[in-house]
Amino acid sequence: MSLTKKIIFGLLAFGFTGLAVVLLVGLNVEERPKITVAGNAQNGATLLQTAGCYACHTQAESANGVYAGGAALVSPFGNFYAPNITSSKQHGIGDWDIVTFERALRQGVNPNGQSYYPAFPFMSYRSLTDQDVADLFAALQQVEAVEKDHRDHEVGFPFNIRLGLKPWRWLFSTVKPLKIDQTTSVGRGRYLVDAVAHCGECHTPRNSLGAPIPPYLGGADLNGDWAPPITARAFEQMEWTKDDLVYFLEDGMLPDGDFIGSSMVEVIEHGTSNMPFEDREAIADYLFSLVQR
Ligand code: HEC
Ligand code: HEC
Repeated sequence: MSLTKKIIFGLLAFGFTGLAVVLLVGLNVEERPKITVAGNAQNGATLLQTAGCYACHTQAESANGVYAGGAALVSPFGNFYAPNITSSKQHGIGDWDIVTFERALRQGVNPNGQSYYPAFPFMSYRSLTDQDVADLFAALQQVEAVEKDHRDHEVGFPFNIRLGLKPWRWLFSTVKPLKIDQTTSVGRGRYLVDAVAHCGECHTPRNSLGAPIPPYLGGADLNGDWAPPITARAFEQMEWTKDDLVYFLEDGMLPDGDFIGSSMVEVIEHGTSNMPFEDREAIADYLFSLVQR
């Protein structure tokens, strides 16, 4: 065999092995007992705000309709668009049941058994409690149907191939929920930070394939926007007190009197400002307990 032939042969073999891995690797999904707790739509409506569902799935200042699809989520892989999750049977999730919803939200798997892109923060939502999932579902069922399809993602090859998410998930993700004891303020804060408000989706760095890497909450570049570290040490260096953080999460004011900008504005406006005071305090208790991880 000539060298060229050897190289071509080698590349082909490599390609087929890759393909086989992609096809053989199963999606990490779990058959779970159906959630039977009754959903509270009123709690769910608050959660839709504090968990960021509204911010991503509603395009501000457009005639598109509430929960009928979001603005571009810009990433190094292209633009993602959060779809229509209104009660439209055709364009939204109007004909879903709680099982389908649970699988989407906590396991990142669509009704066809394919993976969602991690632009949908299912890796954080995996730790949501059954009650919170039921409440969210109850609230979404009451959202007025918008009969409009949303935009396709604008993602280039090879990231536009959903099958590629199989090995990605196999390497980088799990659907196993974190076990979080919410009976203490620190525990409640951890649940809010890690599961509900998914602070790490922006503040934890990622590798070149978009998977989170240490240091946890250690600061991350969001396509040119810097989401600074939010660990106890970072607050110490900036000379923030716990109260500074609690009030910042309510109105976005920094200790020096300036106001925060960029994507953190939405997090506060729709998210943390709609939480009860004790929840903002719990977030601060938790973050100030993070000496270094
Ligand atoms: C950071 C932005 C973001 C947040 C926050 C977010 N989503 Fe999404 N969501 C997306 C994207 C992007 C997709 C599409 C993913 C894909 O196509 O693989 C999606 C998909 C979905 C789907 C699947 C819809 C379908 O037709 O298959 C559901 C259901 C959903 N989100 C519900 C929620 C709920 C409930 C919340 C809040 C608890 C939420 N999302 C928060 C970005 C977000
Ligand atoms: C959608 C991405 C995103 C999410 C989610 C997010 N943040 Fe931020 N955050 C940012 C960005 C970007 C900045 C910097 C904004 C700027 O400098 O104008 C920031 C700034 C901050 C700051 C100010 C830090 C400093 O040094 O000035 C704090 C504190 C903070 N975030 C805490 C949180 C907490 C707590 C959560 C979860 C409840 C959270 N963030 C969720 C993107 C995000």
